[in-house]
Amino acid sequence: MPERYRVAVLGGDGIGPEVIREAVKVLSAAGRRFDLEFAFDEALIGGAAIDATGSPLPDETLALCRSSRAVLFGAAGGPRWDALPGDARPERGLLRLRAELAVYANLRPVRLMAEGISPLRAQAVAGTDLLIVRELTGGLYFATPRGRWGDLAIDTLRYTRDEIARVVRVALRLARSRRRVLTSVDKANVLETSRLWRDVVEEEARAFPDVTVRHMLVDTAAMELVRAPATFDVIVTENMFGDILSDEAAGVVGSLGLLPSASLGDHAPFLYEPVHGSAPDIAGKGIGNPVGAILSAALLLRYSCDLPSAAVAVESAVDAVLASGVRTPDLGGSASTVDVGDRIAAAVEEGQPVGLGEIRS
Ligand code: NAD
Ligand code: IPM
Ligand code: MN
Repeated sequence: MPERYRVAVLGGDGIGPEVIREAVKVLSAAGRRFDLEFAFDEALIGGAAIDATGSPLPDETLALCRSSRAVLFGAAGGPRWDALPGDARPERGLLRLRAELAVYANLRPVRLMAEGISPLRAQAVAGTDLLIVRELTGGLYFATPRGRWGDLAIDTLRYTRDEIARVVRVALRLARSRRRVLTSVDKANVLETSRLWRDVVEEEARAFPDVTVRHMLVDTAAMELVRAPATFDVIVTENMFGDILSDEAAGVVGSLGLLPSASLGDHAPFLYEPVHGSAPDIAGKGIGNPVGAILSAALLLRYSCDLPSAAVAVESAVDAVLASGVRTPDLGGSASTVDVGDRIAAAVEEGQPVGLGEIRS
């Protein structure tokens, strides 16, 4: 009997359900090829959940996630809910889910997936293959006090030594499995939280003498990411810097629609989501790029099912389909979301050549 993996599927808002449908299609294809059995359970989150239940993260959704092997999430938010107060917004449902699942390390791999899809000169982006490890459950997004008091608004940037140390250790371990260079990004010339961050990175790095660690200020990092993206291996940074730098890195390799993410903690279930949002400008048109969602499913195979060969099969299928010119309009193509999903699912099922022993993180 093949092992049965229960996956909670939270499509959410805008293009979220459109791209997640393709990710589920590709996981099912991987199941057929590798003799795995998936059971998919759909649930509400974000604006769709607010409309149906009044809450952006209903109790039933959280309970389903907790009882699943992994959670696949699309996107939350959109103009329809923009007037709601901060804590009632769709995005808070996602933030609460991350906090409840304690998935503090958000892995956002960024690589050049095909020739000619970056807006930058080929020479400038050649060899780009980096991994952003974004702290996900602390910092400005969560710390209190937070709120509006008349003409006063407050967000709090707060980090503890332990919150920093655990995500830095994840990044150091990943750097060790890659090219062994870790760039820690901060604003230590101004922020006390960044000075603590730097101290903790130095302390944790002592246990990884084989990893070269450098510190970079976030404004410089933003510039270097565009100027010389291939010089980065693993980047570790706090929550908001990681949010911003990952969208920038997506632009470098061609589209926000390409980037996946895995949010990991000390125990399952982990959360998998494309880096992009609900894309209200193209929602409902069937043209959102499903690659970020599909590659998130590949990360699910790697980190929640411990099936690196199935993950590589999906990643190779994505590369082959993009190289064949089947691309959505964000990459200059004319394929639909469903076209791209169908082609990648077929390539996974038929079996594209998989690089032996090749394991991407
Ligand atoms: P966005 O990521 O939704 O879109 C930014 C731009 O990128 C848009 O032009 C969009 O069309 C394009 N884009 C994004 N994903 C794409 C894809 N898969 N294929 C092709 N093009 C794609 O960011 P935004 O417009 O600033 O935010 C819209 C809403 O989404 C907001 O409510 C925001 O809070 C929410 N959001 C949610 C998440 C999430 O749920 N993880 C992430 C970011 C933004
Ligand atoms: C992301 C998004 C979210 C974030 C928002 C929607 C809360 O931008 O996943 O990158 O900032 O974490
Ligand atoms: Mn973001």
